[in-house]
Amino acid sequence: MVLRTRRARHVLVASLSTLMLAATSCASNAPQDTLEPAGDAARTIDNLFTPVFWIAVVVFVLVQGLLVVSIVKFRSRGRDHSGKEPVQTHGNTKMEIGWTIIPALLLFLIAIPTVKTIFDLAEEPKGDVLAVTVTGHLWWWEYEYPDLGVITANELVIPADRPIRLSLKSKAPTVTGAEGGVIHSFWVPRLAGKQDVIPGRVNKLTIEADAPGTYYGQCAEFCGLSHANMRLRVISKSPDDFEDWIREQRRPASTPMTGDAAAGSDLFTSKGCIGCHAIDGVEGAEARVGPDLTHLQSRSTFAGSIFEMNSEELGKWLADPPKRKPGSKMPKLNLSAKEIGDLVAYLETLR
Ligand code: CUA
Repeated sequence: MVLRTRRARHVLVASLSTLMLAATSCASNAPQDTLEPAGDAARTIDNLFTPVFWIAVVVFVLVQGLLVVSIVKFRSRGRDHSGKEPVQTHGNTKMEIGWTIIPALLLFLIAIPTVKTIFDLAEEPKGDVLAVTVTGHLWWWEYEYPDLGVITANELVIPADRPIRLSLKSKAPTVTGAEGGVIHSFWVPRLAGKQDVIPGRVNKLTIEADAPGTYYGQCAEFCGLSHANMRLRVISKSPDDFEDWIREQRRPASTPMTGDAAAGSDLFTSKGCIGCHAIDGVEGAEARVGPDLTHLQSRSTFAGSIFEMNSEELGKWLADPPKRKPGSKMPKLNLSAKEIGDLVAYLETLR
């Protein structure tokens, strides 16, 4: 496109600027918005981010403003100017010292609250702290409450207004016999910053939610095929509701059953599901290669929190897990429609 007139150029610049502004505007429904902190740790980070952001805005406007003024004021006017060279200068000691010292001072100023924040966030929380061990698998999250004897997956249930101290570990899929795993990163933007989950070491992270609610998270370190499908949720409950949840989780699975569910329970053993999934109260179901299924139905999602927990999704999942979650360690078992139906009926009893 040839822009013959000045006017056409102006129109193009104006429309591109408008488009850019619209495309980068803030979403109104952004559940993973780090700028909407919902707990102490996230707020500590936000309290550092906000002043640094505004300092950066002032610097940006000042520098870009001077640049634009210089471009406009000192531009070559028209084609037939005198042909004289502009005044040539080299160096200005005062200005150079100035624009070296001012940024250095600014960076030093920003470093003070930054270093303080780093140490604040690393500190062990005091008071009534709940410990949870988080294990990053390929590609889902396991949560163990060591003091409460509870294990769950993908959806981390916590009491509101209480610091949760997470111990983060990464594990390789033992099904392949491989030692060592990959690096993940646990991130719930509204509750805390990112923390890497590294094989062979334990990283710590404190999260806290002010109020009951659901907070969305995501693995934030590329960890293979289904990295993008390694989502998570933190479900914050009132202290009473949390106690109820713990009580429910500590119950073993209800075993007596009839019909399709009974057939599904048999398939769970004969098809080898039992080799990877633990179900408390079911003999032989102790392996923790895949998620613990004892209270599967107490979760609203499954498989890295990417599917809604309902019979239709469970059926589609059982039919071909690696198709639905690329790279899934759960194999396709070539189940018949009847077998899938029975297994789903069984899984639905795990409340
Ligand atoms: Cu786990 Cu990315």
